[in-house]
Amino acid sequence: MTKTNQKPRIFSGIQPSGNLHIGNYLGAITQWVEMQAEYNCIFCVVDYHAITVPQKPEVLRAKIMETAKIYLAAGIDPKRSIIFQQSDISAHTELCWIFNTITQNGDLTKMTQFKDKAGVDFNSLEKGLSDSWNEKIFNSGLIKKIEKEKDISLALNSAHEVIWDFVQSFKLQFNKVGVGLFDYPVLMAADILLYNTDVVPVGDDQTQHVELARDIAKRFNNRFGEIFKVPEVKIKKEGARIMGLDNPEKKMSKSAASDANYVALTDEPDKAAKKIMRAVTDTGKDILYDKENKPGITNLISIYSNLTETPVRDIEKKYKRKGYGDFKKDLAEIVKKFLADFQKKYNAISDKDVRRILNEGADQARPIAEETLRKVKEKIGIK
Ligand code: TYM
Repeated sequence: MTKTNQKPRIFSGIQPSGNLHIGNYLGAITQWVEMQAEYNCIFCVVDYHAITVPQKPEVLRAKIMETAKIYLAAGIDPKRSIIFQQSDISAHTELCWIFNTITQNGDLTKMTQFKDKAGVDFNSLEKGLSDSWNEKIFNSGLIKKIEKEKDISLALNSAHEVIWDFVQSFKLQFNKVGVGLFDYPVLMAADILLYNTDVVPVGDDQTQHVELARDIAKRFNNRFGEIFKVPEVKIKKEGARIMGLDNPEKKMSKSAASDANYVALTDEPDKAAKKIMRAVTDTGKDILYDKENKPGITNLISIYSNLTETPVRDIEKKYKRKGYGDFKKDLAEIVKKFLADFQKKYNAISDKDVRRILNEGADQARPIAEETLRKVKEKIGIK
């Protein structure tokens, strides 16, 4: 049992929503498994994050169990690491509230993931406004036509109309976005900072959120006195951003519209193999790692490299005189075998064991979180 020794601490988590996929596994979970040897580890099933978009209660309940089982099947050892469910420890939402009071809207509107998920981007607002202005006013020749006072008033009216329409449609979109989705990085900061975390191992899409957690820690420390450690982010060199199989320009995502986008960890192995065979590749035929010009094959090489722990250069050499078909066939077999092994472990874990592990995990994590929250309340003057 090494949970209470002096090793540095890591904290990370996954939302129990959608289908966990090999991107989550290769970008995040494989790091966690390895780091167990050298760190005190806390892994959370972040259910309060999942409800920032609508979830069906019975599906959410099942996904919480599924996510914890995936942690265990991947090799997270509850004897060495704490695994728990976020909502079992109320200090997370309490600290989130306190952090809300030192976070600015501008900290959150710049989050790339928020912009993507909510479809609201303030930079695009500025660009949209100047584009419409240029198009409707300058390019239309309206300015050139101005000779009399009446023309000026016409031009201004026309400009006003364009800007008004643009702002209205932006407002409509912004007003629809849930407050939870907007605030979610603050809850994530609370997750991380409650546990005096040294390192946060994640995929690269979470880097910006960890950056915010660092800023909030520094801001709080500056304003109220040192409490929080400023954590470091850790992302893998290869595999930090696995791309969608149906569109290698965008990351593989649990919430993708089509399930051809990802290989889920719970996909039937034959079905997963077919997804690999159908994955979008690029023009040409060489098996070369080139993110810019060959994003499709590069993504598949990355998956191959991560699953087999083979350096990218060795894969390129191995397939030098072969085509996409041969390479994909081999990768499909690798994925099939990986999933079969993984699911064997997954299916051997009972719901009852998972519940017990989550309860025990929460019992171990709670005192750490409550101690931090107590200090915070003291510092800000409510205790
Ligand atoms: P989530 O649930 O979207 O993703 C879980 C982890 O998987 C990584 N990941 C990927 N890695 C490589 N390629 C991909 N295509 C890919 N897609 C996802 C993510 O980077 C992440 O590490 N906000 C977080 C969960 C969270 C959290 C935390 C993480 C809440 N509190 C505290 C760390 C610490 C999220 O939504 O991850």
